[in-house]
Amino acid sequence: MSKLEEILEKARKEPGLLLFLTGAGISAESGIPTFRGKDGFWTAGSKVYRPEELATFSTFRSRPGDVWEWYLLRRETCLRVEPNAAHHALVKIEEKWGDRFRLITQNVDGLHLRAGNSLERTWQIHGDINLMRCAAECTDAVQPVGDGKNLRCDRCGDWMRPHVLWFDEYYNEEWYRFESSLAAASGAALLVVVGTSGATNLPIQVGMRAAERGAYLVDVNPEPNPFSEWAESSPRGKAVTGKASERLPRIAELLLKD
Ligand code: OAD
Repeated sequence: MSKLEEILEKARKEPGLLLFLTGAGISAESGIPTFRGKDGFWTAGSKVYRPEELATFSTFRSRPGDVWEWYLLRRETCLRVEPNAAHHALVKIEEKWGDRFRLITQNVDGLHLRAGNSLERTWQIHGDINLMRCAAECTDAVQPVGDGKNLRCDRCGDWMRPHVLWFDEYYNEEWYRFESSLAAASGAALLVVVGTSGATNLPIQVGMRAAERGAYLVDVNPEPNPFSEWAESSPRGKAVTGKASERLPRIAELLLKD
């Protein structure tokens, strides 16, 4: 039995959540550029930026039109592409395991939900590019972007803003499921991390907490990253080097066994 098979076999039999944490790499093969890959730059007008420069509330306040232009274009890309075999594998795992399954995703592209994972068990900790809310927070309500033509709040007339977490903002429970994610990490029998470089705070905390509490840890990524290093340094971990769409179907197959 391979180490991966052994880990998944044991995790299935222990109590606790089967927790998945995904990043931009899982959507790369659907055609959405990752943040830190070579195509991860943003353009506004004729200038080219790193995401960290444009994806802030302060930039939005000074240049709402430029920021919206980029998000509406990115949203079109997200709507045009299709979920891939890795997204579909996660749907099969949820179908099999029901409430033992949780999915924490950093992706705002909506592909997990379009593939068929449930909103109830899919926590979009960086928001959803298909949603927007009042930038002045006259209400907490979140609504669909629709055709992107009406970007003003019906109640107070301020700008609406994309419902995404920006670099100068903080996680919370209501919109980004901060506490739920940490609680899930504490209660995980298995954490499978897919396609993330581990550059943001909550995913790192989730990984550390799950590892501290003794969860089995699997990382799927063609490149080394903090999660693959932890996985390889632990007897309860395994770094699976490769693309998500090639590796997750096998992981699903092993988790679907009776
Ligand atoms: P990154 O762009 O930082 O990392 C993408 C990861 O996916 C890298 O580790 C790649 O090696 C890996 N990867 C690439 N192709 C892959 C494939 N086919 N299969 C599996 N893995 C692959 O993206 P994230 O880690 O998601 O936050 O970035 C995290 C957050 O940083 C984003 O959600 C965003 C960004 O700033 C906010 O906007 C708040």
